[in-house]
Amino acid sequence: MKRITKAVFPAAGMGTRFLPATKASPKEMLPIVDKPLIQYAAEEAVAAGITDLIFIIGRTKRAIADHFDKAYELEMELEMRGKKRALEELRAMLPLNVHYIFIRQAEALGLGHAVLCAEPAVNEEPFAVILADDLIDAQPGVTRQMCDLYDYYQSSVVGVQKVAREETRAYGIVATDPMTDRLHRVTRIVEKPRPEEAPSTLGVVGRYVLTPRIFHHLRQVGRGAGGELQLTDAIQSLLAEQQVLAYEFDGVRYDCGSKAGYIKATVEYALKHPEVGAEVRRYLTERFCPGPAAD
Ligand code: G1P
Repeated sequence: MKRITKAVFPAAGMGTRFLPATKASPKEMLPIVDKPLIQYAAEEAVAAGITDLIFIIGRTKRAIADHFDKAYELEMELEMRGKKRALEELRAMLPLNVHYIFIRQAEALGLGHAVLCAEPAVNEEPFAVILADDLIDAQPGVTRQMCDLYDYYQSSVVGVQKVAREETRAYGIVATDPMTDRLHRVTRIVEKPRPEEAPSTLGVVGRYVLTPRIFHHLRQVGRGAGGELQLTDAIQSLLAEQQVLAYEFDGVRYDCGSKAGYIKATVEYALKHPEVGAEVRRYLTERFCPGPAAD
């Protein structure tokens, strides 16, 4: 049985919801405390046993490739200044058995198009897709949870979460038949339906495990919602020949493509951070829940 060893990170979007921060640098490089979003995504993949990380990048995204490169000058500088811990952390960031592959998506034609750009690197293998701006705090990581499901069922899996009905317009929404507590069989998937037309309130949130047959369907479907080539439409087309599962994962998801979601993630990750956690907690407590004044 073939284990999943490849993950695709579409990162060629314009990041318009985060302008002007994303004018010249990618939204995937926005840090949550001290790590860029794309690194959380890469670490989630590596923790799932994935060894080939395939980044689909566009204009203004060179920083992503640089981030995963060896930083010789920086390493030398840290060594000279005797900053051992920082040096070790920097080196540990790039495990030796992991390959980083960068593919240019010249035009931002949609998520489906980004995934199709990965085909030459994925070939005939099942693979994961991780959208870095959906940061998911989970133990084990949600990609690991979904790869385990793939191993067992040998079917594509999409990560889903209940969303508010008035927000269905922001998600791929699935109609399902029940299987187990958290697992459902997808019967239909629609990209960004209006609330009154949404077949349920289960929304896809940035994690997919797909069979390579998806590439065939990505080539077949035309442009969909927003004039873009939609991954959702290719999954709907895939349903005609293969089972697709929807998994209500165990974990907390932050929509870091939105300002409020990004700030919530920053607060939660800061509170857990070994270096700054205690100080941030003290600050928030004093600021928002001050106790009775000391005499
Ligand atoms: C994309 C997908 C959508 C999915 C969402 C999750 O939309 O097209 O189906 O629910 O990611 O974050 P985007 O947020 O890129 O518009």
